[in-house]
Amino acid sequence: MRVPLVPAALHESDRPSATAQWTTLGRALELKHPEPIVVDPYAPAFLSRNSRALYRSLLRTGAWWRRAEQWDIAGLAASNLCRHHFLDDHLLEALPHVDQVLVLGAGYDARAYRFADAIGERPVFEVDLPAISKHKAGVVARNHALFGDVRVRRVEIDFRRQSLVERLAESGFATGAPTYVVWEGVSMYLTRDAVTQTLAALASATGRGSVLGMDFWQQVDGAGGPLRVVVQRAMRLIGEPITFTSPASEVSRLLEPAGFVPIDLAEADVLTARYATGDRCCDPGMYVVAAELHGN
Ligand SMILES: C[S@@+](CC[C@H](N)C(=O)[O-])C[C@H]1O[C@@H](n2cnc3c(N)ncnc32)[C@H](O)[C@@H]1O
Repeated sequence: MRVPLVPAALHESDRPSATAQWTTLGRALELKHPEPIVVDPYAPAFLSRNSRALYRSLLRTGAWWRRAEQWDIAGLAASNLCRHHFLDDHLLEALPHVDQVLVLGAGYDARAYRFADAIGERPVFEVDLPAISKHKAGVVARNHALFGDVRVRRVEIDFRRQSLVERLAESGFATGAPTYVVWEGVSMYLTRDAVTQTLAALASATGRGSVLGMDFWQQVDGAGGPLRVVVQRAMRLIGEPITFTSPASEVSRLLEPAGFVPIDLAEADVLTARYATGDRCCDPGMYVVAAELHGN
């Protein structure tokens, strides 16, 4: 039997996302940081056997790990954590004005549990590919003592092939109601068409005053140093290549046709200033935006 060198693309496979493991590993490691950017006590529960082994090894390196955090390439890890904090802040700001929470490409996002008290009775919809969605539900079910009775509505979808509006309607989503939407760490794995179609779908599924928080990759010469090329190649090798980038200067042109008006945009310098700790710096190749739905 021939084993392909590059695995099938994520949306064509039945494996849970490896990059979702990476972001969760980052949040799990952060729990041991003296100055955490994000506190996610649920992250360790989602680590795979391999991630758990890496987690233990990295923790054993102690002082070396703290020094490595300041390398250019570690900017990506800092960016992941700072964008999470940014999107947490916008969730808390939006909650008094919204009826529901929608997490697109949820991976092992634990906001439904981390903010269970603030979210209260508002339903939380977590949308992702079937493999990871089922896997996550299994982890939550096996760890009831940790996750408690929080009810999350799972919506299985492939953004590249299925209609978000239809899948949400089938899942009990209140069409037209004000919603906080978090779409974190996903746009870069899609096509421009899939991103614009999802934005249009969000505009028709959610109501005026909804807030969308999402991040993008952009091409910035020299960002992340030469190792960034290695990281991007590694992502291709694991079947999760970067397929969409868009410069921060053009984010309005991407969001406004769907009716979303940016209310907060944070590139690496702003993310670093607001959230980074321990001399860490964010990677200029990633930025995050919050946008309010004004109608289209
Ligand atoms: C880097 S992970 C981010 C997970 C989570 N939002 C976080 O920040 O920790 C990317 C997520 O996008 C999801 N994803 C990628 N392509 C997708 C597609 N075509 N349809 C639905 N979800 C997709 C993956 O399954 C994965 O959970």
